[in-house]
Amino acid sequence: MKPGAPFTPAEYLVLHEVSKMLRRAGDFEADLQHVLEMLHGHLSMERGMVCLVDRDKGEIRAEVIHGMDRRQKEVKYLMGEGITGKVVAEGRPIAVLNIEQEPLFLDRSGRRHNVNRNEISFLCVPIRFQEEVVGSLSVDHVRANKESLERKAHFLEEVADLVAARVRARQVEQEVTRLRSLETHRMSPRIIGNSSVMRELAKQVSQVADSSTSVLITGETGTGKELIAREIHERSPRRAAPLIKVNCGAIPENLIESELFGHEKGSFTGAIQQRLGRFELARGGTIFLDEVGDLPPNAQVKLLRVLQEREIERVGGSETIKVNVRVIAATNRSLEKEVQEGRFRADLFYRLNVFPVHMPPLRERGADVMLLADHFVQRFSSELNKKLERMDTPAIDMLMAYHWPGNVRELENIIERAVLLSEDGVIHGHHLPPSLQLAIPDKSSTPARGQFEALVHNYERQLIIEALKDCWGNQSEAARQLGTTKRVIQYKVRMLGIDYRLYRGQRARS
Ligand SMILES: Nc1ncnc2c1ncn2[C@@H]1O[C@H](COP(=O)(O)OP(=O)(O)OP(=O)(O)O)[C@@H](O)[C@H]1O
Ligand SMILES: [Mg+2]
Repeated sequence: MKPGAPFTPAEYLVLHEVSKMLRRAGDFEADLQHVLEMLHGHLSMERGMVCLVDRDKGEIRAEVIHGMDRRQKEVKYLMGEGITGKVVAEGRPIAVLNIEQEPLFLDRSGRRHNVNRNEISFLCVPIRFQEEVVGSLSVDHVRANKESLERKAHFLEEVADLVAARVRARQVEQEVTRLRSLETHRMSPRIIGNSSVMRELAKQVSQVADSSTSVLITGETGTGKELIAREIHERSPRRAAPLIKVNCGAIPENLIESELFGHEKGSFTGAIQQRLGRFELARGGTIFLDEVGDLPPNAQVKLLRVLQEREIERVGGSETIKVNVRVIAATNRSLEKEVQEGRFRADLFYRLNVFPVHMPPLRERGADVMLLADHFVQRFSSELNKKLERMDTPAIDMLMAYHWPGNVRELENIIERAVLLSEDGVIHGHHLPPSLQLAIPDKSSTPARGQFEALVHNYERQLIIEALKDCWGNQSEAARQLGTTKRVIQYKVRMLGIDYRLYRGQRARS
């Protein structure tokens, strides 16, 4: 298969030892360190390194470095970058006689500072599994000549063949870990949204759900604060216990205490029997304090006490009752401002604001508008038993151009009305309210086809930019996320004039 002189006895010995050891299949890193150690000890092949190809990220990462913990330093190459990148990209070995004279040689692992680089040769071979390059194996050799180097390259390819299955297994293992971590950041299907701000939110929700930490959800009206509160509760270990909602703004001031903490029979006029308060009802579960910014001052004091002591007293009662309750509060006001202006207690604010979650307004969620619109069209057409096929172009145009002061709730209401009004299975522009008609400039002079194309391009642009932001400008990863190929993304990026480099090394809007 591979040409060249037969191996030396020392080389045969190493091949034999390597295959014997790999059959036992121990810990990947320990085994591969051992292989590199044998190359060093028996054959003077120094500074061995095994890299793994990460196709998703389009990079090659050092997985095992001889005598070095890979966590000490991350060593990576882009496809085609340096000798290692070239070996992987082209799928064939490269031998460098003198690294000092080779501009492509990068020494990313930084291990060749104190050696005479003029004496060092470098060998790198691809590791293939079923025709696919899954990694690379490289070593240094002191004072080699051209012929001996070629022979050693053949030998090293033999070693690469032996370790290939293990390297492939490692790659699969890492892929699975990555997918699992994505999985845990996914919200339940009733929460729609794929924009980077919503994905960031999903991550926060999964970070906080498991604990009993107090959460303060802020955001404009209709952004989904209550929906997220419910999501956090349902993803928490308290999900079997109740989630009790208190609308702090809707209870008359003189009844707030009795609502929250309950009362004993006869404690005030009208208290004809004992009543459990919301905190008691929520025991073991979660209390959701909606519009918490509307709490009057004396109720704020009482609430602070519960949060500090974790116990309550019913109005007119003398018994203290322990309550194990998680608190999630929400507000569409700026509580910081309320604190500054003396309307909200600072100490209560800090108690509630342990884990702040901000709901982004709909106008910052890009293409989510259309995802949500589709979702609501489906929901209301099935609720109203109507068959709806699509939305026409002007309708889409208006939905995309509008600034959504009422956020998701407004969109929900508008779609419900449009589904009701529609008579021919299509939502037309004129089924949307006048506020949306004003949102777009009069395009009657634009031919319909051009308008449609502009809209589609606009939508595509937004989808691609969102994906690029998420993937730090990495086009391969963006392609995966959108379920298409890198080639398509590259083409669209060029056609739509998107500068993917803008998104490198930064996560915008987060
Ligand atoms: N991401 C989403 N996916 C699906 N539906 C959503 C989403 N966000 C909000 N909604 C829906 O929009 C409506 C408003 O949401 P919600 O009541 O949670 O908002 P809110 O922030 O509490 O509003 P307010 O400040 O007015 O109380 C609800 O019917 C909710 O189901
Ligand atoms: Mg609400």
